[in-house]
Amino acid sequence: MNAKELKKKYFEFFKGKNHAFISSASLIPEHDPTVLFTTAGMHPLVPYFIGETHPAGKRLVNVQKCIRTGDIDEVGDPSHLTFFEMLGNWSLGDYWKKEAINWSYEFLTDKKWLGIDKNKLSFTCFKGDKDAPKDEESAKIWESLEIPKERIYFLPKEDNWWGPAGETGPCGPCTEMFYDTGKEKCSKDCKPGCSCGKYFEIWNDVFLEYDKKADGSFKTLKQKTVDTGMGVERAAAMLQGKKIVYDTEMFAPIIGKIKDNAKNQNEKSIEIIADHLKASTFILAEKITPSNLDQGYILRRLIRKSIRHFRLLGIEKENFTSEIAKIVIQTHKDSYSELNENKSFILDELKKEEKKFKRTLETGLREFNKLAKGEKITGKQAFILFSSYGFPIEMTEELAKEKNIELNKKEFEKEFEKHQELSRKGAEKRFKGGLSDSSEQSKKLHTATHLLNAALRIVLKNNNIIQKGSNITSERLRFDFNFDRKLTKEELKQTEDLVNEKIKESIPVKKEEMTLEEAKKRDARGVFEDKYKQKVSVYTIGDFSVEICGGPHVNNTNELGNFKIKKEESSAAGIRRIKAVFK
Ligand code: ALA
Repeated sequence: MNAKELKKKYFEFFKGKNHAFISSASLIPEHDPTVLFTTAGMHPLVPYFIGETHPAGKRLVNVQKCIRTGDIDEVGDPSHLTFFEMLGNWSLGDYWKKEAINWSYEFLTDKKWLGIDKNKLSFTCFKGDKDAPKDEESAKIWESLEIPKERIYFLPKEDNWWGPAGETGPCGPCTEMFYDTGKEKCSKDCKPGCSCGKYFEIWNDVFLEYDKKADGSFKTLKQKTVDTGMGVERAAAMLQGKKIVYDTEMFAPIIGKIKDNAKNQNEKSIEIIADHLKASTFILAEKITPSNLDQGYILRRLIRKSIRHFRLLGIEKENFTSEIAKIVIQTHKDSYSELNENKSFILDELKKEEKKFKRTLETGLREFNKLAKGEKITGKQAFILFSSYGFPIEMTEELAKEKNIELNKKEFEKEFEKHQELSRKGAEKRFKGGLSDSSEQSKKLHTATHLLNAALRIVLKNNNIIQKGSNITSERLRFDFNFDRKLTKEELKQTEDLVNEKIKESIPVKKEEMTLEEAKKRDARGVFEDKYKQKVSVYTIGDFSVEICGGPHVNNTNELGNFKIKKEESSAAGIRRIKAVFK
């Protein structure tokens, strides 16, 4: 059964149970400031869980486009995708566990529907803890369907609890359905939920009956909601007896195209490209452009990582990103008309971004070739590539391996340390002011402040965030900015992570002089007060941060330590204050 048939059957089944079909919401959440993308079918429906009435009624069925960027690094394993489709049926204060579970079972096992062998199914229910009792009710319902007790497992919150989507809101226990692939157990304790591949998760029925409050307590919701989720790609793979989602018809034409154009066949690279460019195509269909902000930033990362993997596979074809997008559009345009409607936009943006990134790569590559004329590249040379051209050492390593050139990495590391020493000395002479003290540590914290400023705009999805004050000592930075609420733990963590990511990326910090007009054109942040000044200095950190600033700064983000936010508080009406250190 292919994905199209699966979706059709699902809708038909639930329409038969009086559910109204609703179309997929946008990938970009409309009301939720805490996430960049719609991550589950329940996400766009949250307002209806807490009292809004849905125009289509109390029983709904749909397939929702989802993006989970948290899984980016897991791509290449059998089931984690950046973009995926999720089937769901919903009861907004209507039916409850008995109907939901009975229907799930009927759809999975009845010959008229999926016809899965019931002996191969196992189930998990919530074990209970201080916040909510053990979900005996769900387990009893499975037992009433003649499921032996040995195949009903009780698991804790980490496995059998869903939500809230943000920090607070609707959440509750869930019961999950697993298919036994027949593989040997990986250990004595192997059970549904284990990631070894024996148990394949098919479907999740969530019973949203609690409201998580800001103080961490759980209150009972007035209206109980059933929220279910079945990943289309995964379910299709299982129904087709495929081990991985990339072997299904949904990916076959994309994978085929990549393979046809690749000089070598590294599975992982092929899968990364297929996953990332499919996700990119769907994000572009929302009219998002690659940029350094918000969704645009994720999009840029997805496209650029794909292009890096083109190199690894020896794909040289021009505009190959858009070639792949054409296939994605062709394969999915019937279900998602926005793909076809925005086709030329999608293809143009991919072409532009591919060109831009390839130019950066080419410059680096040219320098590499100039330096690596002989049979080896010295640590010093690798360091020049790194400090002057922003070429990460990993990239140099890759190129050296490709060209069978020896690279002296030890020397590179020495050079790296030496340079840090030199820049420390030089800094003392170059120091011109701008910080409350002149230590090397303050300079580092100053550069970190720029990273933090840019990171906050991305994490809080607010391009209007600007610096409202900064104070740096050799121990810590203090940064004030306009924002009207407390940041969530999650947001603080994401901000920290993003800053640390940029530190690890070893991005050169560049200073340029330009007119205020030019700076504005480059979307530079900073104080535009000096209207009469002819020129301003602008510090750029790769394409992540552009700020009008007097400096001083370090030469490369890799000189910074591990960035840690210590405090976030209000400093005045509408102004938040962050204190951070290196740790
Ligand atoms: N919201 C539930 C999930 O995404 C159904 O698994």
